[in-house]
Amino acid sequence: MKKIGILTSGGDAPGLNAAIRGVIKSAKELYDMETIGFYFGFGGLIDNNYTTINDTSGFLTKGGTILKTSRIKPFKGEDKEEKINSILHNYRSHNLSSLVIIGGNGTQKTAYNLYKELGLNIITLPKTIDNDIAGTDISFGFSSAVDIATEAIDRVHSTASSHNRVMIVEVMGHKAGWIGLHAGLSSGSDIILIPEIPFSFKNIYEAINRRVEKKKNSTIICVAEGAISLDEIGLSSAELTSKRKFRSIGQRLARKIEKHTPYESRLTVLGYVQRGGSPNAFDRNLATILGANVANLIDAKNFGNMVGYVDNEAKIVPLVNVAGYLNIVKNENQILKAARSIGISFGD
Ligand code: F6P
Repeated sequence: MKKIGILTSGGDAPGLNAAIRGVIKSAKELYDMETIGFYFGFGGLIDNNYTTINDTSGFLTKGGTILKTSRIKPFKGEDKEEKINSILHNYRSHNLSSLVIIGGNGTQKTAYNLYKELGLNIITLPKTIDNDIAGTDISFGFSSAVDIATEAIDRVHSTASSHNRVMIVEVMGHKAGWIGLHAGLSSGSDIILIPEIPFSFKNIYEAINRRVEKKKNSTIICVAEGAISLDEIGLSSAELTSKRKFRSIGQRLARKIEKHTPYESRLTVLGYVQRGGSPNAFDRNLATILGANVANLIDAKNFGNMVGYVDNEAKIVPLVNVAGYLNIVKNENQILKAARSIGISFGD
């Protein structure tokens, strides 16, 4: 009987357990393969901390990851060689026919290295609420995060309107503004700020004032945590830290708006709420569709690939085209264009 290993690495996201279930159930059903799961991402692979998973009951709807996760990077640090040797040893001693790695950007890079440098039989799945993995139109976790952020912003509208305030909601997304863009549009935000479109504070004050002139006395701003102002373009993260008084963009915005406009401003940082809880229906199905394709690749010995979702279909995407690339919001994006067409300001 073929044995496969599976692990989840990087930040947790809704749909991880649904994906694990999809892999395990299809591997058993189609090819009678057995699955073992390593705990805490690459940590479990290094320490041989694993479990045999026979029963996937309850996995579909469960948030987080039953295998736990970590941001441990095997190819980084002074103990790099030791970690790599342990991985090789454990992979071989379990006689794995393949290792299935579920994760975001950084994880895809590590997975590619394990395939290319060490020759392991790697297959990956794309997970992240940020939706910034190259080679797939969407990653699981993203849709649930957008739903959560949308609902939260919907609820902020009442306070905005009751108090005539500028309400800022900060969402996740360091390098990519997908959550900000999607949740900003679906929640009727008036201003959306994302990392891909540097903004000027002056444009934001003007957008707020234009609304007030039209008797719209409250404004909702949806800002991605990685949004930057025009004068910050090209600065390193160390330079950004020393330049900024407040770490959070939402905090800086609220302060500045109160200083430079006559309006009260309040901030809500959604944080890890966006990553928590049960996946929505879309993410359950996406994770299952992608997970259910893994066993076929293992059987065909088609390694070094990610199962992505392209043009509404599961597609085999070579990891060489995924690792080290980033999927960001482009100017020609339909949602961005629609948002601009209905008068949403991006502060640019
Ligand atoms: O990768 C998803 C993400 O949620 C980012 O948007 C966020 O900045 C980051 O993870 C935070 O991760 P953690 O604090 O868990 O390391």
